[in-house]
Amino acid sequence: MLVTGGTGTLGRQVVPLVQAAGWKVRVLSRHARAQADGIEYVAADLLQGDGIDAALAGVDVVVHLAGGPKGDEIGTRNLVQAAERAGVKHLVHISVTAVDQLPLTYFRSKLGAEQAVRESSVPWTVLRAAQFHDLALKTVRAMAKLPVLPVPGGLRFQPVDARDVAERLVELALGEPAGLVPDLVGPKVYTLGELAQDYLNATGKRRLSIPIRVPGEAGKVYRAGGNLTLSGADVGTRGWEDFLAGQTDGAFARPSGG
Ligand SMILES: NC(=O)c1ccc[n+]([C@@H]2O[C@H](COP(=O)([O-])OP(=O)(O)OC[C@H]3O[C@@H](n4cnc5c(N)ncnc54)[C@H](OP(=O)(O)O)[C@@H]3O)[C@@H](O)[C@H]2O)c1
Repeated sequence: MLVTGGTGTLGRQVVPLVQAAGWKVRVLSRHARAQADGIEYVAADLLQGDGIDAALAGVDVVVHLAGGPKGDEIGTRNLVQAAERAGVKHLVHISVTAVDQLPLTYFRSKLGAEQAVRESSVPWTVLRAAQFHDLALKTVRAMAKLPVLPVPGGLRFQPVDARDVAERLVELALGEPAGLVPDLVGPKVYTLGELAQDYLNATGKRRLSIPIRVPGEAGKVYRAGGNLTLSGADVGTRGWEDFLAGQTDGAFARPSGG
């Protein structure tokens, strides 16, 4: 099985599960690494298109997780075309909830990536997941670096644990191609202010907050909850509070309370 982006936040959770299921794993990313723990690493840049054919040699199933802030539609199209040439039997692609709702560069690019997968002759499965806890943490950490916390009004999220997403993806990869499957979201809806406050509490920090307004069409969609999947979604088991409680870096050292 080839896991593109197997070195990333999600990929690092997926790869050991694939191995535990008894599969040989090849990981594709832009940076070469020596083989380790039975994992073969190959370097290829999906945006440039180099090295993809070689990475797909002998591969039946591809779990496609590689991506960045821009260009996913190009990278995915390059991968899909190479997968067609290689006779891949199943391509599992990770997308993002509300991909067709938000007029933002990242979402447009993820929608283009989905289209490339849907239009391909390779049998496919697409899972749309909500924002990972890791991304929520990165966001609130950046907010809390400011002396006053800017909190966009009306923004709500359903953050999901990357481990839950990884488990679902591996289940899908081991099954038959299933097309677009139900979204995967976290167990609770939070405002961005709540996510930030939970982080402040967990790190013993205090900040005053000021409300701000997200401008434009994207702001409207967010305020209307158009980014949420409130019915019909699969729900992850691990919550934001559990994720925060599991953080071990120094910032989370609890005050002694003594
Ligand atoms: N983060 C979220 O909240 C979230 C939510 C829903 C869906 N997703 C989707 O889940 C996927 C994984 O997200 P993540 O947070 O795990 O990302 P990540 O931590 O940034 O990892 C991205 C991975 O892709 C590789 N990569 C990036 N550009 C590449 C290119 N041009 N060619 C080949 N490999 C490339 C990276 O390795 P190198 O840098 O070494 O190339 C890395 O292994 C993405 O498709 C993302 O859109 C993310």
